[in-house]
Amino acid sequence: MKLPEMHERLASLFPLESDIPEDVRLLAPLHQRAILLNGEMRIWKGETRPVHSAVRVRKDDGSLAPVELGSVPVTGTAEADEALAAAWAAWDNGRGRWPTMPVAERIACVENFTNQISARRREIVKFIMWEIGKSLADAEKEFDRTIAYIQATIAELKRLDNDNSRFQIVEGTIAQIRRSPLGLVLCMGPYNYPMNETFTTLIPALIMGNVVLFKPPRFGVLLYYPMLESFRSAFPAGVINIVYGEGSVVVPHVMASGKVNVLALIGSSKVADQLKKAHPKSNRLRAVLGLDAKNAAIILPDADLDLTVKECIAGSLTFNGQRCTAIKMILVHQAIAEEFLRRFCDAIAKLKIGMPWESGVMLTPLPELAKVEYLHACIEDARAKGATVVNAAGGAAAETLFHPAVVFPVKEGMTLYRDEQFGPVIPVAAYEDVETALQYVITSEHGQQVSIFGTNPDQVAHLIDPLVNQVCRVNLNSQCQRSPDVFPFAGRKDSAEGTLSVHDALRAFSIRTMVAAKQTEASKKLLDSIVLGNKSNFVNTRFIL
Ligand code: G3H
Repeated sequence: MKLPEMHERLASLFPLESDIPEDVRLLAPLHQRAILLNGEMRIWKGETRPVHSAVRVRKDDGSLAPVELGSVPVTGTAEADEALAAAWAAWDNGRGRWPTMPVAERIACVENFTNQISARRREIVKFIMWEIGKSLADAEKEFDRTIAYIQATIAELKRLDNDNSRFQIVEGTIAQIRRSPLGLVLCMGPYNYPMNETFTTLIPALIMGNVVLFKPPRFGVLLYYPMLESFRSAFPAGVINIVYGEGSVVVPHVMASGKVNVLALIGSSKVADQLKKAHPKSNRLRAVLGLDAKNAAIILPDADLDLTVKECIAGSLTFNGQRCTAIKMILVHQAIAEEFLRRFCDAIAKLKIGMPWESGVMLTPLPELAKVEYLHACIEDARAKGATVVNAAGGAAAETLFHPAVVFPVKEGMTLYRDEQFGPVIPVAAYEDVETALQYVITSEHGQQVSIFGTNPDQVAHLIDPLVNQVCRVNLNSQCQRSPDVFPFAGRKDSAEGTLSVHDALRAFSIRTMVAAKQTEASKKLLDSIVLGNKSNFVNTRFIL
């Protein structure tokens, strides 16, 4: 199919209003005016901004119009200050109700919250689907994975706390060592996993006893509306506060206050850099960061091409390539480059493109037109420097629907070689010597993951050993991915700071703290009386079931 025909076809995939199935519709636009500050739902009377869907609808005259999903508050620095003050009061120098609450009670609050939001799964999933264009199946997966993550976090915290419920005696010192909260955590998640990635920092931060200021992403904000009341009722006042508004205005302001103890950001390294610098007391600030990535697939000459194509399709095009873990550069040995490209392009032609609620759909509308323009600019830049789009109708677009483009051969100097395209454009390069592929990873600014496709143990092992010192996960004959969530998710260079897994996140948002005494009769008596009298939430030997 040629570009103009594909353009027509893509435009025709957008539905008429009447074509949208009843069960996936949103009942009415949601004009959010409530904001959660200091345990209260306030009605916002200030500026708002409209929220549009990634999906367009076809009008009777054939034009495509954005679907307005509602609007959200644009709160400013004054509200951010209020949120800071509320969180600061709830923390109360570590003396607040939440940071001193027994772990079992904090777990009960999180369980209560989880039960409440689980009851609103359908509504939340629909907002994810409509706002960012994620397929219904993947939006459901995102929700369910988040609930499973919370449950795993609770189980892990029980294990951790029970392990720490005993005294240790070393060299004449009796100690009880536990993990204590750090203070105020600023949480920000990305638009591509607006619920899951946010909750993988927000929930561990909360459950460890920290107080939180949460800023939803620019796309993927309405889904939090059905959770507001659950946040309000499940946690003490001020423990969780939500700020809206322009990130570039509100967030540096919050950081400049010096009151943030932990910056938890899943976003860009550029933003993380600026925000860290905005904090006046750099030694007080900890950072838990999931940032840019440009994961490469290295395809060796003896790779099983059926498997390689399948994994590279999933790796580069799941949710239209909008995953931090996506394969964003393919390096294929020149002996099989032609065959790989042929099969890869054939496989792309068979992918279902359409509306997010359609069953089996893989490619769906992108959340912003600016992304379509950026992807076109990347393709034009590569073309001008000698590459071509090698798949039929690659790069054709109608509004937010973008047909994937495979660009070959991509070389140093082209935007696509190093930029994290974060969308359905797949740069491919052929190499002769595997050292060239290795050098690509070594000279990259990023260091999250890599995929190796090959069957020769010597060749695969020859790559594994240098690559494990460049990235944090080497995938063999499979795409790059974060899951399972109990495994460490980390990155080197500009890709991450700290490690996130169910276990590691609990550690990232807390610090080992101990109560120690000399091993004397008097100390024993004192500690006995505290424990037996149930006088402290820290010094105790309680077991959480
Ligand atoms: O965008 C980054 C996500 O954490 C990716 O998670 O690799 O399991 O899809 P995933």
